[in-house]
Amino acid sequence: PHLAKFLSLADFERAAAKHLPKMLHGYLAGGVETDWSLEDNRRAFAEWGFIPRCLVDARSRHTRVSLFGKEYSAPFGIPPMGSSALMAYRGDLVLTQAARAKNIPMIMSASSLIKLEEIAKANPDAWYQAYLPGEPSRIEPLVDRVIAAGFKTFVLTVDVQVSSNRENNIRNGYTIPLKPTFKLFWQGATHPQWAFGTWFRTLKNHGMPYFENMDAGRGPPILSRELERAFGARDGLSWPHLELIRKRFPGKLLIKGVLHPDDVVRAKEIGVDGFMVSNHGGRQLDGAVSGLRMLPEIVKVAGGLPVIYDGGIRRGTDVMKAYALGAAFVFVGRPMLSAAVVRGQPGVERAIDLLQEEVHRDLALIGANAMDQLGPEFLVKVR
Ligand code: FNR
Repeated sequence: PHLAKFLSLADFERAAAKHLPKMLHGYLAGGVETDWSLEDNRRAFAEWGFIPRCLVDARSRHTRVSLFGKEYSAPFGIPPMGSSALMAYRGDLVLTQAARAKNIPMIMSASSLIKLEEIAKANPDAWYQAYLPGEPSRIEPLVDRVIAAGFKTFVLTVDVQVSSNRENNIRNGYTIPLKPTFKLFWQGATHPQWAFGTWFRTLKNHGMPYFENMDAGRGPPILSRELERAFGARDGLSWPHLELIRKRFPGKLLIKGVLHPDDVVRAKEIGVDGFMVSNHGGRQLDGAVSGLRMLPEIVKVAGGLPVIYDGGIRRGTDVMKAYALGAAFVFVGRPMLSAAVVRGQPGVERAIDLLQEEVHRDLALIGANAMDQLGPEFLVKVR
């Protein structure tokens, strides 16, 4: 369908489900084990309703929000999503260029299949997200490489101590390294839009995809058995490593995947600049609560540092609820990648426009003129 026919983020997610081979769609959309955390991200929003105010002159309303000294056009950004370029042609590049065009933040993933230097060139405002093993000898070169590329914001993801148990990936035949099985060929053959539009086009123009951002250099290709080893054990990553990164990285440092207020206090003492409260889109510890539930308590102890939320945001009203609970900013994952999958950069720009228009309309309907006017007085718990 024509882009104008996409009316909500859900439309992009439905289209991506048709477009992608089952194993890749399972990776994009799926959660972990029983999907408790994935579902909690939606449940947590459903538990709040609005109490709008009336007769508020809302003609001066706008969706702009400032974060780390920069004013963004919309109150949301695009979070890191690994292997995006396997699902959408040049996925991370498409996402970062759309974010740049629309003036919203985008975080590139450590597990990107595109070189971090290339992302930084395409969007000098992009943030870098790191996965790191607990080994200083592997942390230091990566941090130095990120600095040299010009990144001003470094996000350390702290909820991937080990790979999680994504049963659906195993059932569907999606493994890293990718194994050239009959299933893989069959799913490719039955999804020609993806096979020709993403896979063969990538091979033709850029060659076999590699994890390009491991340590100081390139990792092995996605079909390689070396991969597990190259990723390194991350279960040794601990507080001293965060201190090490803090000393080495001069820009803004955030931790992503924090849920406990005490961890926020400790990270603040080390000198981080902000927090991303998240259960990783329900993809890591099954049963980890939605970050939305922890938001008010974390904001209380964050001492004015920005507390950012992600997980399950699909509507402008979700963005508003997160801000009303104290979020300084939010990020929206799967729908943005889905838009890149089905329509590339114009698709992502359309998705951004749709969500921004929803927020702009909802501000008038709730009786406010800016995101920072939202607070808990607009909400009531409904279940
Ligand atoms: C992710 N996420 C993620 N997070 C991270 O820190 N590094 C990463 O490489 C990835 N990779 C990744 C891949 C895919 C396909 C998805 C869907 C997610 C988590 C992501 O940054 C974010 O926390 C969630 O996606 C937010 O939830 P929603 O908006 O997708 O519901």
